[in-house]
Amino acid sequence: MHRSIHRSVAQIVSAGLLALLVTFGTGHERALEGQQGGEYSDLTFTKDIARILQDNCQVCHQDGAIGPMPLTEYDVVRRYARRVLRMVETHEMPPYHYDRDVGVQDLKYDPRLSDEDIGKIRAWVEAGMPEGNPDDMPAPVDWPDPAEWRLADRYGEPDIVVRSEPYDVPAIGQDRWWKPVVPTGIEEERCILAIETKPSVPGRGVTHHANSSFRVNGETAGRLSEYALGKLGEIVPEDACRVAPANSEVAWDIHYWPNGQQLTDDQVEIGIWLHPEDYEGDYQQTLTLYMLRGGKGYDIAPHGTLMTQGFHSFDTPVRVDSWQPHGHTRLVAMSLQILRKSGRTEMVSMVSNWSALWHHSHIYEDDVAPLLEVGDQLILTAWYDNSENNRYNPDPDQWVGIGDRTADEMSHAWLAVTHLDEEGMRKIKEDRAARLISEQGSSQPDGSHQ
Ligand code: HEC
Repeated sequence: MHRSIHRSVAQIVSAGLLALLVTFGTGHERALEGQQGGEYSDLTFTKDIARILQDNCQVCHQDGAIGPMPLTEYDVVRRYARRVLRMVETHEMPPYHYDRDVGVQDLKYDPRLSDEDIGKIRAWVEAGMPEGNPDDMPAPVDWPDPAEWRLADRYGEPDIVVRSEPYDVPAIGQDRWWKPVVPTGIEEERCILAIETKPSVPGRGVTHHANSSFRVNGETAGRLSEYALGKLGEIVPEDACRVAPANSEVAWDIHYWPNGQQLTDDQVEIGIWLHPEDYEGDYQQTLTLYMLRGGKGYDIAPHGTLMTQGFHSFDTPVRVDSWQPHGHTRLVAMSLQILRKSGRTEMVSMVSNWSALWHHSHIYEDDVAPLLEVGDQLILTAWYDNSENNRYNPDPDQWVGIGDRTADEMSHAWLAVTHLDEEGMRKIKEDRAARLISEQGSSQPDGSHQ
């Protein structure tokens, strides 16, 4: 599966990249095989596997949550064990599509399963899924009250709460999109410290995603946030100011997913924590949509493929804090690269198993967030496959153009970018170098970390 996904992407990328992807594919399998040979023996559900499912899966796979089956009890997990293995080996679950073999790997809120845990699940399934001693079973997780703000531990109650307008979700039916526009009540421009989106408690099983943007005088004024279950929220880096504009409204884009449970007057909430009024931040962070192909239209022929690219440069040095690719069902892969003014290219991030079901913002850890000097460029590349090789393609016989419907395509990415100056750039580089040296120092002289 892992390989066949790469193969469908490979059909439409250049031969060079093809070779690269195939190499990574087999390298990965070899790594997994290496771990199976006896390294994990005597694994049981109660002792080893339940803990992995608690830490990585049950937030969505429990009664009342969005996953199709609860992965809490042995009998159920045993029944679905082969599917569980397939989903973790292909990196489809937990749902976070981001290549492991290339680019920046230190990400904030990274839910990806470790190769070690994947190897354990495989070894356990191959050993016939033994239950083990019931006394080894870890205590059930005390899930945080979903009615509470998860960031309240850190920051207290939010300064501003904006609620979507009430909406009735039927028990059975098609997906729904709900797009109300609601005033924020923010009168003076302020800097945002953190953002969290929270569905209602009964609604958390059907709120598939909830995105929000600021709007001022009817015009979009920047993305506010993106939510999918399991996501903590967004915290703006220490040195930056993400502006909450004066006299703004929140434009919601909520995707409800009827799952047998009727909801009346459902509301999704967004909590915004603000810096004090006099905080300015050293630099501005913007969350902006970056187009590929200059936003110009394109057509993908029936059974055809297409690649689009976008190039972006900046007037000041910048730090890229996060990247969120966007496309629909014909998109199969997207990458973010930097073209240095020296002519060298660097791969920052790649998603080669895109799924339009999930939209994630990949947030780089502070010390590895890519830095661009003036003259460097971002290159965004998207690959589309309108053939039957694309398992998400609803109809390979159609021409596909750019547009809003899921049946149309899109070609852009959201990037949070902090706009620096020469001095800020120098300071960030010095701080990173200093931290690196002190980390190396602390692991001396015997090479062990304290
Ligand atoms: C953020 C929520 C979320 C998390 C975390 C999550 N899942 Fe899922 N899972 C879903 C949803 C929603 C579906 C159904 C839609 C889909 O397949 O994408 C699903 C589908 C599945 C399926 C059924 C796939 C099929 O069609 O046969 C399996 C098996 C599965 N998940 C296993 C896991 C395992 C194992 C983990 C942890 C390692 C996990 N999931 C983590 C939300 C989640």
